[in-house]
This record gives sequence, structure tokens and C-alpha cells, in this order.
Amino acid sequence: MDKVVLITGASSGIGAALARELASRGAKLVLAARRVDRLEELAADIRRQSPPTPPPLVQRCDVSVGSEVEALFTAAVAQFGHVDVAVANAGYGLNAPVHAISEEQMQAIWQTNLMGSWYVMVQAARVMMPRKSGHIMLVSSAIARRSLPLMGAYAMTKAAQLSLAQSQRLELAPHGIYVSSVHPASTETEFFREASRRSGRPVGMVGQSQTAAAVARKMVHLMEHPRPELWPATGSRLGLWLASALPGLTDRILSRKGTR
Ligand SMILES: NC(=O)c1ccc[n+]([C@@H]2O[C@H](COP(=O)([O-])OP(=O)(O)OC[C@H]3O[C@@H](n4cnc5c(N)ncnc54)[C@H](OP(=O)(O)O)[C@@H]3O)[C@@H](O)[C@H]2O)c1
Repeated sequence: MDKVVLITGASSGIGAALARELASRGAKLVLAARRVDRLEELAADIRRQSPPTPPPLVQRCDVSVGSEVEALFTAAVAQFGHVDVAVANAGYGLNAPVHAISEEQMQAIWQTNLMGSWYVMVQAARVMMPRKSGHIMLVSSAIARRSLPLMGAYAMTKAAQLSLAQSQRLELAPHGIYVSSVHPASTETEFFREASRRSGRPVGMVGQSQTAAAVARKMVHLMEHPRPELWPATGSRLGLWLASALPGLTDRILSRKGTR
């Protein structure tokens, strides 16, 4: 694949799996996260496993800081000349009843999951519009269209990402830029450990899980065949159909199942 792909949150989980999948296809990679040691390990692995791939650019970037996201895109263009695909993947989960979320927790998850994605959308537009080409992908969640108990703050950020993606897709289409949202269901990553740490309670998967590699392969397919939304777990779409057609029944089913 002859594309320059920038990935935020590439130090673990879906972002790292996507980097490996893309590297095996020859893409040029820009890997960003806060844990640079993890990115360096990934880049070294990629160099060992995929010799024809140009060495990835590794950059420390906290997506909650707009100036760091701007610097990331500037560095990517300096290294590779342009960015073909920008993947706003960095994010984390939080489990707490809506009334018990602290103001600090609320602002922090909004700043990372939503503002971090928006900064990527702004910077991607800045570098892609002059070339009239590009693809922006937001990693949202299957929960973007129907929240669950304890997941209000997290779901809020994922729904907001979807709204931004829907608007920007239409805004940038005349500029030759595609915008997609990706909606994974439970995926085997460090997400649940981090969500448990931040929530002060165990956070487990909901329903059947997928591997990060399986999600990554579908995201690569999305890069090759752009479409508005990717729902890697097909079952989640059926659940959503029920949730939007019959919200009362969905509430009853969910309360019978209890909360996790
Ligand atoms: N796993 C699931 O079940 C699931 C389901 C639906 C959607 N998702 C979404 O998928 C995306 C990736 O999550 P994952 O499952 O792969 O979890 P993960 O393994 O915990 O990876 C999260 C990534 O986000 C990065 N990150 C977090 N805060 C950041 C910040 N402020 N600045 C820069 N990077 C930051 C982390 O890197 P550093 O800590 O090194 O910065 C890490 O690379 C998230 O947006 C998540 O909401 C996950």
C-alpha cells in the first residue's frame, strides 16, 4: 500500500495492530502516543518484520493538547511530504453512574476522546485540503448510537465523534477528502485495564469480543474502499437497529441483564 498513514494511540491495542497490518502492506507510518518507548519498540519490530517499509516516524503526542497534534502533522509532512490517511484512534474508557462522575473526569475524557479527535480533524484538513486528497478516520465505538449503564461519559464522547464525522464528511467531500467513523464493539486490548484503573472498579467486556488484529484488517479494507461507517462486529448493528426502533424494550432488556 503506497500511503502515508498517521495513527494516534499507536502504542497499544487497535492502533498498534493497525500499524502492524499496514506495515506488512508497505505503508509509510507516523506513529503517535504518549508512551514513546512503546512506539519505539513497535517501530523496531516493524523494521525487523517488514524490511521494504520505510522506517516509521515516531512522535510523542498527547492528543488532548492541540499544539501537540499540530506539531505531529507538521512533522509528518516534513518527513513524508504529505498525509494520505489520518486515524484519530487515541482514547480511553470510564465506567461510572452519570451522577457520580467528577467534573475533572468529565472534562478529561471529553478533552482526550473528543477534542483529541477534533484536533486531528482540523490538522488533517489543513494538510490534506491543498492536495485535494485524503481520508480521515475516527475510531468511535459501537456505543456511539446507544449508551449503556455506567458508560454515559464515554458514550457521550463516542456519539460526539460520530456527529463531527458526519458533518466533516459532507464538508470535505468537495475537497476530495473522505471521512469515516469506525465503531468497534468489545476488542481485546489494554482498554479494559486502563478503564478499570481510571474508574476504580473492574471494567469488563460486553458481549462477544474481537481481536485488535481483526478490527485492524477491516480498517485497512476501509482505507482501500472508503465508506461512511465501519462496524467491525456485525451483531452490534442488529442490536442498534432494535435500540433505535424499540428504545423502551431495549431498556427493559438491558435492565434485566444488569450492569457490568
Ligand atoms: N477495546 C475496545 O473494546 C474498544 C471498543 C470500541 C472502541 N474502542 C476505541 O478504540 C480506540 C483504541 O483503544 P484500544 O481498545 O486500542 O485501547 P488501548 O489498548 O488502551 O489503546 C489506547 C491508545 O490510546 C492512547 N492514548 C490514550 N490517551 C491518549 C492521549 N491523551 N494522547 C495520546 N494517546 C493517548 C494510548 O497511548 P498512550 O497511553 O501511550 O498515550 C493507547 O495507544 C479508543 O478510541 C477506544 O475508545 C475500543
